[in-house]
Amino acid sequence: MELSVLLFLTVLIGLLLLLARDHPKAYGCLPPGPQPLPFLGNLMQMDRKGLLQSFLKIREKYGDVFTVYLGPRPVVMLCGTETIREALVDRADAFSGRGKIAAIDSVFQEYGVIFANGERWKALRRFSLTTMRDFGMGKRSVEERIQEEAQCLVEELRNTKGTLQDPTFFFHAITANIICSIVFGERFSYQDPKFLRLLDLLFQSFALVSSFSSQLFELFPGFLKYFPGSHRQVTKNLQEIIIFIEQRVEKHRETLDSTAPRDYIDAFLIRMDKVRLDKTDPNTEFNQRNLIITVLSLFSAGTETSSTTLRNGFLLLLKYPHITEKVQKEIERVIGSHRAPTLNDRANMPYTDAVIHEIQRSSDIFPIGVPHIVTKDTHFRGYIIPKGTEVFPILNSTLNDPHYFKKPNTFNPDHFLDTNGALKKNDAFMPFSTGKRVCLGESIARAELFLFFTTILQNFTVATDKAPEDIDLTPMECGVGKLPPPYKIRFLPRLSN
Ligand code: HEM
Ligand SMILES: *[C@@H]1O[C@H](CO)[C@@H](O)[C@H](O)[C@H]1NC(C)=O
Ligand SMILES: *[C@@H]1O[C@H](CO)[C@@H](O)[C@H](O)[C@H]1NC(C)=O
Repeated sequence: MELSVLLFLTVLIGLLLLLARDHPKAYGCLPPGPQPLPFLGNLMQMDRKGLLQSFLKIREKYGDVFTVYLGPRPVVMLCGTETIREALVDRADAFSGRGKIAAIDSVFQEYGVIFANGERWKALRRFSLTTMRDFGMGKRSVEERIQEEAQCLVEELRNTKGTLQDPTFFFHAITANIICSIVFGERFSYQDPKFLRLLDLLFQSFALVSSFSSQLFELFPGFLKYFPGSHRQVTKNLQEIIIFIEQRVEKHRETLDSTAPRDYIDAFLIRMDKVRLDKTDPNTEFNQRNLIITVLSLFSAGTETSSTTLRNGFLLLLKYPHITEKVQKEIERVIGSHRAPTLNDRANMPYTDAVIHEIQRSSDIFPIGVPHIVTKDTHFRGYIIPKGTEVFPILNSTLNDPHYFKKPNTFNPDHFLDTNGALKKNDAFMPFSTGKRVCLGESIARAELFLFFTTILQNFTVATDKAPEDIDLTPMECGVGKLPPPYKIRFLPRLSN
């Protein structure tokens, strides 16, 4: 399939190069960058090692703000902590638009909280934040939902009897179950066929979106959409997830009690009804389409991200056993072995908190950020970026910023500890990005990471069959997302249990 796409591409590009008359317009006054070819853009400047490496190399020549043509369209790259803050925070109005991802655009079409813009985005974002905070979804807080999942996971891991396991499935399952619990009001058993199908569709889609074929598609969606490729499979997968969500919404509708929302879907349906009855807002964004696509958005944004961070985290814990031991000492001291961890413990566990920060920093899961667009013609650092131009905040350049981290290339929790051993904030720490588009699930993700790491390490010691110095951390993939290499781990029950 991919070969056929490549062949088509080569032939078509040849033809188009022959026909090409219009150079990319020197429009606005974009930041500098390498000279693009017609249609192909800066394809020739792309490093084999991937987008991030290509951009970092171009940065060396052109500085922190530069333009790269991905195919025919210009993208403005922002590097460095100050630059990204200046744009995403100080100039939030201009820089908080959202760009598209070509391979999934036909499904999302600017509905739902991730890909919406303007008033639609504001309404969905505000609603989602307040609903998921505190008790907007009934009596159970997000914290309790995560604690429940963590105990279920411990039981499941106990069943592995200390044998070597690829942990991927477990982390997929628990992070997806948190979203299930929030939106559907229920978690699923790890053996439930419906749940397993959902996981398959979801995680297969992530792999497809980061595939080579999808990256090509991203450059030339205009005509590649007429050819087979992974974008078609992604669309099919997402449509099947949508059908699953629609069925759940239907069930919620039938059993809705407008005085007692059980979960996110209930809260949304109640709001839909209220707007309809009040007749105050004819252009309401609280409609079926936005409900379905926002739920799909929460699955898309909130599963692979947390799961990859956990997977990378345990790999690092295997690589640095003396750090793991210190975390376990802190767990023993602060939590003990007679009760489950709670979020209140975090404030008393600066070392563990620092380790989790450092895991997130070095995981660097969105090295080139998530695409933004400028919402109007924007003057920035002497350049003029025309409305609608894409902007990538290169998050790797902050997480790896030598002005903020003493040894950015080493794994060291001291990056987040002061001399008294207290947690130290760092302005360059932005794995969730920053500004108005900052990750909507930031506090949920941080709660997940803390509760999952501590609950697992309270109940198990971890081990593998390799010596720490033989553990290779080289990422398996580093495109739009960065993925750790596959590995195996043992979860050995702790003696105190
Ligand atoms: C370790 C875990 C996570 C990381 C590192 C992460 C990181 C990010 C990043 C970098 C963005 C893009 C921000 C931007 O546009 O500049 C984002 C957006 C988003 N994230 Fe997360 N995320 C994580 C977990 C979650 C979870 C658990 C949820 C849901 C409960 C979630 C929901 C979202 C949503 C809805 C958006 C889109 C926000 C918008 O466009 O307004 N994320 N996340
Ligand atoms: C995990 O360990 C804690 C503390 O020892 C204990 O309270 C809890 O029951 C254990 N979880 C499971 C599922 O065994
Ligand atoms: C950022 O990218 C560089 C170059 O690929 C890599 O060496 C570094 O580990 C990345 N930074 C972080 C914090 O992961």
